[in-house]
Amino acid sequence: MCGIMGYIGKKDGYPIVIEGLKKLEYRGYDSAGVAIMNGSLSLYKKQGKVRELENYIHTQKTNGNIALGHTRWATHGEPNDTNAHPHLSETGRIALVHNGIIENYATLKSFLTSKGYTFKSDTDSEVLVQYIAWYQSTYSLDLNEAVRRALGDVEGTYAIVVLDTLKPNGVIVAKKDNPLVFGLNEGEFYIASDASPISNFTQEVIYLKDGTYAELFDNGTYEVYDLEKKSIDPELTTIQSSKDNYSLDGYDSYMLKEIHEQAQTLEANMEQRIDLEEGEIRIPEIDEHKRIFNSANKIILLGCGTSWHAALIGKYIIESLCDIPVEVDYASEFRYRNPIIRENDIVIPISQSGETADTLAALKLANEKGAFTYSLVNTVGSTIARNSDIVSYLKVGVEIGVASTKAFTAQVNLLTMMALKIARIKGTIELSKYKEIINCLDALPGLVEKTLECNKLVKIIAENYYKRDHALFLGRGLNFPVALEGALKLKEISYIHAEGYPAAEMKHGPIALIDEQMPVFVIATNRSIIQKLISNVQEIKSRKGEVIVLKEEGQEFPNDLASYAIEIPKTHELLSPVLASIPLQLFSYHAAKLRGCNVDQPRNLAKSVTVE
Ligand code: AGP
Repeated sequence: MCGIMGYIGKKDGYPIVIEGLKKLEYRGYDSAGVAIMNGSLSLYKKQGKVRELENYIHTQKTNGNIALGHTRWATHGEPNDTNAHPHLSETGRIALVHNGIIENYATLKSFLTSKGYTFKSDTDSEVLVQYIAWYQSTYSLDLNEAVRRALGDVEGTYAIVVLDTLKPNGVIVAKKDNPLVFGLNEGEFYIASDASPISNFTQEVIYLKDGTYAELFDNGTYEVYDLEKKSIDPELTTIQSSKDNYSLDGYDSYMLKEIHEQAQTLEANMEQRIDLEEGEIRIPEIDEHKRIFNSANKIILLGCGTSWHAALIGKYIIESLCDIPVEVDYASEFRYRNPIIRENDIVIPISQSGETADTLAALKLANEKGAFTYSLVNTVGSTIARNSDIVSYLKVGVEIGVASTKAFTAQVNLLTMMALKIARIKGTIELSKYKEIINCLDALPGLVEKTLECNKLVKIIAENYYKRDHALFLGRGLNFPVALEGALKLKEISYIHAEGYPAAEMKHGPIALIDEQMPVFVIATNRSIIQKLISNVQEIKSRKGEVIVLKEEGQEFPNDLASYAIEIPKTHELLSPVLASIPLQLFSYHAAKLRGCNVDQPRNLAKSVTVE
């Protein structure tokens, strides 16, 4: 999704903004631009990466104490220089950057066209800046009033930063259903789509609330208003200075780095949550609401993409430990049906970014329906976190690769700890089993390191299959979601079509797809039903399908059935999805590299999907 970075204060804004845009690259984009105010406005924007923009600007004038920057993920209008942000009003007086979708842009555009306005780009954002300019010139308004009036007519979502070149002592920021935060420092402001590019400059920030706007001045003063122009006293938030390590640490991509750091990130995920001495799980946010968890009638897990896969695994784990029925829903589906939520229902949105528009909208619906909401997110202070009754953070650090890896294993791991905690509160788990799983959790990071040793074999497997057009991933029980996740990883970064299925479902149709061109990955770590899985593999083998089996170390498996066997270290069956997903992450990485794909920023994708 688009990224916004802005600066206003006493320093030159361009170096701050261009570095900030680099920290927002992980959100996914196809073009970038900056506008710099220094008496007059300098505007540089182009299709491509931030570093290409930087090279393009290299010899230009870049001093100026106000700068707006933007990385664009195309919604209206193809990726090209003209459609890149910032956008200017026709006279060039107003400059704007925008994240979101102006749903009634066509109506506004035909109105403006009837007033004689012309447009350079195909974007909804240019319509917005022209509409603000129309209010300003028609009613001789200051920028803040023109923005307020224009937003009053806008339908859709926005996070915007706007400046008036004739009054260059301030900027207007506004948001609705899209993230925007600004940091306060001595006489200066740092504005961004999330806190990551700000936290090294200041830890005091304001997360603008929906339907509000603020005027930030270059003398360090500011005012916040609602759209009825009522002054608002905003909530100040203190964030952590970012210890996030943005270096590649010698890896060729963030994805490979993030796959290989999962032992460390799972340790961070469990830090202060596993008490080995006492043999307890510590989750204070649950402890503070024991009654709610003890009397929960139903748990609803929500998410999108990989987070939805984590939710599916969570269902198996919670229902096997807590004696509570669990529903899992795509957030985008939940929000448009009339979900039945009763008293004592708990809704748990799962989201790495904490900004996914569909998940946020589903959360708001759950709040409106009176559910107790408990979000599991990675990004501290994210919108989903701030709109939930309680939150548990993944604590894995910024995940930059668009394909989620370390966040996924942390989501599953946190769901396991949460289930253990709830089971302990409800008394639905024997103490010996509780402590056994806690010990297995403690050993998990070491087993992750061991699992990563399969990399060489997985690379060989990828060299064998990367030219195929299709692949299937099969699993049973809590490995069915692992199959779905393996398929998503492969398709989203290598563009090979892939599907995940419950292994037993093959004979109900998909087995028609099997031929010698179809590699089939079978996750067979479920000890209790291994014979069923062997039968499923035999069905595939007898139709000339090629099987790559993921099995537990020491698990007996007929050698003639699989072309390759990847061994997964033994652990508690409930924890096996974390380990089984790692070879599949590596396979998708190697296949994508062999196909010359950009594994960190796959085509058409964004890291944080803040549009619906
Ligand atoms: C994961 O590999 C994908 N990039 C995508 O499906 C992602 O999981 C989904 O967009 C949800 O994102 P979130 O966890 O930040 O809400």
